[in-house]
Amino acid sequence: MRLILLGPPGAGKGTQAVRLTERLGVPQLSTGDMLRAAVAASSPVGLQAQAMMERGELVSDEIVLSLVAARIEQSDAQRGFVLDGFPRTVGQAVALDTMLGEMGLALDAVLELQVDLNALVARMTGRVAEARARGEATRADDNPDAFRTRLETYREQTVPLSSYYAERGLLRSVDGMLSVDRVAIDVMSSLGLKL
Ligand code: AP5
Ligand code: MG
Repeated sequence: MRLILLGPPGAGKGTQAVRLTERLGVPQLSTGDMLRAAVAASSPVGLQAQAMMERGELVSDEIVLSLVAARIEQSDAQRGFVLDGFPRTVGQAVALDTMLGEMGLALDAVLELQVDLNALVARMTGRVAEARARGEATRADDNPDAFRTRLETYREQTVPLSSYYAERGLLRSVDGMLSVDRVAIDVMSSLGLKL
């Protein structure tokens, strides 16, 4: 199955992507994780992406598309994948359609997690507190200023994707305010699957 998880920062995309990969046996393709790995490795991509990510702005389509194009050609993605955090602009969505079309592939569904703004802020601060309690580093963009920019960027550049995919009959909306387990059940049932 080829799926996209859509939703604002902190909506639970990563959390549900892990559940989906366990259930479907396909990899999670998180552009945020790929970019953070590039930053940690100080690779050329990481050096270009770091400042944008720390501000909560989008990295260029060129960088992100090259990461995704290389990743979906790998052997573990041949049976399908769960895209987490990509596409994020209509331009990326169009490029993904072209990329998949050239491979003779198509998307099966786009799952949109719907979460209230106040809950998003609480989830971000909760993630920071949990990381600190474990003695782990926190994400450079999990701070109030960057989070505000991430939300604005989401509103301006990613929200239009809902109608893009609704028009193509692919969009399924899921209430992301429920517990992680309940959201996972609803995500599966929107795909016609049981947990
Ligand atoms: P990315 O890493 O994709 O971050 P994001 O979209 O801001 O989302 P998060 O990872 O913060 O949240 P999530 O939805 O995964 O939620 P999670 O499951 O962690 O992108 C980071 C940056 O990289 C971007 O700002 C941009 O700069 C760049 N980038 C990435 N992709 C790009 C692209 N395509 N184009 C351009 N630039 C790109 O959950 C959050 C917290 O809530 C956790 O603590 C979790 O335990 C908790 N939680 C989850 N579900 C629930 C629930 N149901 N109830 C209660 N708590 C919950
Ligand atoms: Mg995530």
